[in-house]
Amino acid sequence: MGNILWQHVSERVEQALAELGVEEFDVAGTIEVPPDPNLGDYAFPCFQLARILRKAPDRIAQELAEKLGPDGLIERVDVVKAYVNFFLNRPATCERVVTEILSRGDEYGKSQMGSGRTVVLDFSSPNIAKPFHVGHLRSTIIGHSLARIFESLGYTTVRINHLGDWGTQFGKLIVAYRKFGRPERLQQDPIRELLDLYVRFHQEAETNPALEDEARAAFKALEDGGEEETRLWSEFRRLSLEEFERIYQRLGVHFDSHQGESAYNEAMEETVKRLEEEGLLTESEGALVVELEGLPACLIKKKDGATLYATRDLAAAIHRYERYQFDHLFYVVGAPQQLHFQQVFGVLKKMGFPWVERCEHIAFGHIRLGDAQLSTRRGNVIFLEELLDQAVERVRTIIEERNPQLEDKEAIAEMVGVGAVIFNDLSHNRIKDITFDWETALNFDGDTGPYVQYTHARAASLLRRGEEEGLIQGETIDVATGQLGEPEEFQLAKRLADYPQVVLRAAEEREPSEIARHLLDLCRDFNSFYHAHRILGTPQAQGRLALVAATKQVIKSGLYLLGIAAPEAM
Ligand code: ARG
Repeated sequence: MGNILWQHVSERVEQALAELGVEEFDVAGTIEVPPDPNLGDYAFPCFQLARILRKAPDRIAQELAEKLGPDGLIERVDVVKAYVNFFLNRPATCERVVTEILSRGDEYGKSQMGSGRTVVLDFSSPNIAKPFHVGHLRSTIIGHSLARIFESLGYTTVRINHLGDWGTQFGKLIVAYRKFGRPERLQQDPIRELLDLYVRFHQEAETNPALEDEARAAFKALEDGGEEETRLWSEFRRLSLEEFERIYQRLGVHFDSHQGESAYNEAMEETVKRLEEEGLLTESEGALVVELEGLPACLIKKKDGATLYATRDLAAAIHRYERYQFDHLFYVVGAPQQLHFQQVFGVLKKMGFPWVERCEHIAFGHIRLGDAQLSTRRGNVIFLEELLDQAVERVRTIIEERNPQLEDKEAIAEMVGVGAVIFNDLSHNRIKDITFDWETALNFDGDTGPYVQYTHARAASLLRRGEEEGLIQGETIDVATGQLGEPEEFQLAKRLADYPQVVLRAAEEREPSEIARHLLDLCRDFNSFYHAHRILGTPQAQGRLALVAATKQVIKSGLYLLGIAAPEAM
């Protein structure tokens, strides 16, 4: 797929090249968009052909241009030195793009290129009974968007929440719960209670170091399947998950599997055995490690026999390959874990698994809180919910000022508040550190979610009025011929035409921000069009409404891929 205009120009160039005897040439990949629009809408540089045709590039450009007359879509072909420049016919281009979008509807931008292939995404993955910190929020938002992007390209996706549900902290919690736990509070407000227990444990352990030993013993009992310990552990896990679930629901996220670290207790032994049989394990200060070239050795088993985060990740990766035969396995985890993944992949490579090449660490930077200081600084699940609640609350106030008549204010405030948090995250390259500021994230005219959603609502409202005036019948809208072609309309149509390629690029680069930024450009183009031209009550109303409908379609699809709702009014 890709851009239909680009494709058209490429096909024409390919035909012309065939006449010159060149069959195998990546025309589409060579075509450029000239930096100065006065030079044309597309340009084909002939430098690379010089070697193939053994002619000066300027001459090739001349010869090609002679074979490339105008057609329905191409209005004029010019030569400037080694470049063949193409000028599109504006009305025809607008019509072509709008027709394509309206006829494909939600399918526009989707493809089947990934059909038969599987992407496994390991994302969110908070630790039970420990804070769900902003890093987990970023992982959740980015992973969720990547899953939707790959799905829209026909891939089968598997969303895994690799819960941190095993480890020595459970020994501490069990001990603290037995000593200081409040069962009713655990049911009512589990994360807060678990956090308090965790904090309390550490306070008490300062004066009473014996607690640490008790905790180790409790964890050992848990590992050995002790009944009471297992019951408490699974209760902590269940209650924490229920809390996380509330956040996931608000973000529209679901998982296909919650198999976390605890799921690999048995498989891990097998993995260690396998490493041993292959002679990859070496002893280092009583611990077992795998030596790696150019990296610190990967710790597999501690002196006391306890296995580690990395060991569990090895077992999990092997299990996932056996189960899903994935084409890609993405670990959406913060940049500080880069070394961890290099080590895990390094060990898998030494074990001879060729599919390690399909594993990728999708890293991202920190979120810094700007003016978004929150009252609760202890628990981060609470923090996260508070962040969403405050965003929604602030949006409610803004809506109250801007549009007090709005129906369904509650639902829309939720969409916009949550959308603002997501968009703020996804509008930058994921590896960048981002700042969360209310002023920035909620600015209805800034590079924000609310701005994009507002533009969508504006388009929806125009269409409703068009319907009232009888210009639209139900879902169908005529793309009346010859009504479009003003510079702003043409610019908007070209932007709309780019969308499918933007989705491809977002997938290739694993960068939802490609889509977020495209939506911002699209909204700016749309708003220039909207401010430059009246729509209803003009002779071009029909054509312009069709362009509005096409824009609305692309904004909606793009927001969906980011995990953001598209309100019909706001
Ligand atoms: N639970 C880990 C943490 O909070 C993240 C897990 C990421 N996934 C993985 N397979 N290691 O740091």
